[in-house]
Amino acid sequence: MGRVEGKVCIITGASSGIGAATARLLAEEGATVVLADVQEQKGAEVAGEIGESACFLRHDVSQEEDWRHLVQETMRRFGRLDILVNNAGILVSGTIESSSVDDFHRANAVMVDGVFLGCKYAIEEMKKSGGGSIVNLSSIAAQIAQPHFLPYSAAKGAVRTMTKSIAVHCQIHKYNIRCNSVHPGAIQTPMFEEVKKASKELLPPELLKASPGGRADPSEVASTILFLASDESRFVNGAELIVDNALSVQ
Ligand SMILES: NC(=O)c1ccc[n+]([C@@H]2O[C@H](COP(=O)([O-])OP(=O)(O)OC[C@H]3O[C@@H](n4cnc5c(N)ncnc54)[C@H](O)[C@@H]3O)[C@@H](O)[C@H]2O)c1
Repeated sequence: MGRVEGKVCIITGASSGIGAATARLLAEEGATVVLADVQEQKGAEVAGEIGESACFLRHDVSQEEDWRHLVQETMRRFGRLDILVNNAGILVSGTIESSSVDDFHRANAVMVDGVFLGCKYAIEEMKKSGGGSIVNLSSIAAQIAQPHFLPYSAAKGAVRTMTKSIAVHCQIHKYNIRCNSVHPGAIQTPMFEEVKKASKELLPPELLKASPGGRADPSEVASTILFLASDESRFVNGAELIVDNALSVQ
């Protein structure tokens, strides 16, 4: 208990799956959590279940104005920002031949622009208050080829390298802000149901096998995010932590 005691945290995509599990866990460990998402009703429900240490704000990660408002509102209500979890994501499937330019841009708007803007606005506040920790959700799609999820994989690859550039930038400038990425495998969330549906024929069987009997629960990823968000990982910076029960190394 108390592993992030007193810290103020923003979690995007917090209405569902990994984001909701992370919000619950960080709050249990003492943080004040700002849940942000485009799904208002679900987000408000999760924040309500967590209780006084949580609030929900509607927020579209792809919109710069929404980021300005989210960070300003967090500062107004809680006076500081210590942790940002850039978790919001969408599945955009298609190969290099079947994907349209719109598909490609849609994936990038949420997962690349979203992470870029989040880091940009969070760093501005974190450096004033002496530091912070940013955790970006990438995927094993950034490590291994997933030919039928080209727009998604390309966006997650960008998150992986953007994370490292941000980590080095903050380290050079002695901001005391760390930036790491988390790369889940098959996690049982609404998004993974979409993955299964979209690619019943194309999905390698081992991807489905890697999610047996509820073992790949969102809480498995949330505990990794907690580690990176907390001061326990103070020397972990620019790293990529794969959370896939060895799926991507087989
Ligand atoms: N589930 C998996 O197997 C898996 C594997 C690898 C990586 N991931 C990554 O983990 C993260 C969380 O995914 P999940 O599995 O919990 O999915 P999910 O679909 O359960 O949750 C994603 C959340 O992001 C929100 N969101 C989507 N677009 C948004 C936008 N423009 N602005 C704000 N919020 C937005 C959704 O409303 C939803 O609440 C994603 O970045 C995803 O790519 C998931």
